[in-house]
Amino acid sequence: MNKNIVVLPGDGAGPEVTDAAVSVLQAMSNCTFEEYAIGGDAIDKFGEPLPTATLEACREADAVLLGAVGGPKWESNDPEAPRPEQGLLDLREGLGVHANLRPTRVYDGLLKFSPFKPERVKGVDFVVVRELLGGLYFGEKGEDETSSYDVCRYTDEQVRNVGRTAFELALERSIVSGRVPRLVSVDKANVLATSRRWRKIMEQLHLEEYPMVFFRNMLVDNAAQQLNIGPEHFDVIVTENTFGDILTDQAATLNGSVGTAPSASLGSDGPGLFEPIHGSAPDIAGKNRANPIGAILSGAMALRYSLDMPEEAAVIETAVGATLKSRFFQRGIRTPDIGGRATTERVAKAVISRL
Ligand code: NAD
Ligand code: IPM
Ligand code: MN
Repeated sequence: MNKNIVVLPGDGAGPEVTDAAVSVLQAMSNCTFEEYAIGGDAIDKFGEPLPTATLEACREADAVLLGAVGGPKWESNDPEAPRPEQGLLDLREGLGVHANLRPTRVYDGLLKFSPFKPERVKGVDFVVVRELLGGLYFGEKGEDETSSYDVCRYTDEQVRNVGRTAFELALERSIVSGRVPRLVSVDKANVLATSRRWRKIMEQLHLEEYPMVFFRNMLVDNAAQQLNIGPEHFDVIVTENTFGDILTDQAATLNGSVGTAPSASLGSDGPGLFEPIHGSAPDIAGKNRANPIGAILSGAMALRYSLDMPEEAAVIETAVGATLKSRFFQRGIRTPDIGGRATTERVAKAVISRL
């Protein structure tokens, strides 16, 4: 039977980049696609950011591909107003996708367009494993007249689950690269109780289950600067929800634009959720100028992690690399975020022509 992908275009530039990703997936597989509403789009149509029909379809799917949610239209300081972003958080929770893989691979074809010196970022290739269902995002929240709070809580089990995913990924990557498996755990253990628990569990996992992995802890403020001054030293990074959110936008800039970065959110079973890490890009939405590379590479991750098509995934990734290196691309057939003048669609077509 053909695999079924539920597509959630969402808001702003979300529909444009998911269209691009779907066109590449259609050229590469015979998956079927079904579209559902999420985010602000779902608020407008159904009054809530994650309609039951959307969540049910996602649970039944083989994989879920999402664009982005949110935008100025739905921003409000009223705590009662429905928020697009809550739809995404509820979807992540509803699918139980606790580990969010966010790779940063600096493509040779993008070296010229990176704000960093080419010799500093050439060959950079690491993955951030972001815990996705805990911490500040899912802790108790509240407010009174003059104050508000968000509780940051982590259980041993949450840390152990994402920790194992990260250690396993370090081992898998070392088989491919032939290098020593390496994992850096990022926390703020000098200040936060949740980080001290995080560190204790990670160190236990290292000693008891993964002594063959070269492991170290790093404080998050230092990690932010190391990502800029020595990104080549990283292989796998594991961190909690909020730190992972921030560090991965930062990491994406090594490639010149947040629009290039894909992600895969995985649980212990059920479909994965695949989305570029960027948002709805309200400043450029609707202009056919969003960079589709992050969404296209998210589609490749769906093939690899949820649809059992690792070879097809590799073909897409190779075609992306070749497109970025091509003479066309270097001469301007790239989206404006990396200094070009091509449309979203044009870039997707260039990738398809190289599959
Ligand atoms: P953003 O990622 O949408 O945009 C930040 C900057 O990056 C903008 O200048 C934008 O034009 C640029 N950018 C983003 N994606 C791009 C692409 N594909 N190609 C070219 N340029 C791109 O972040 P923001 O402006 O802080 O947030 C806008 C809205 O998106 C907010 O409502 C936010 O909550 C939401 N958001 C959603 C997600 C998600 O759905 N996963 C992620 C981040 C932000
Ligand atoms: C992301 C986004 C989301 C997050 C928001 C929209 C809830 O920034 O996917 O990185 O913070 O996880
Ligand atoms: Mn983010």
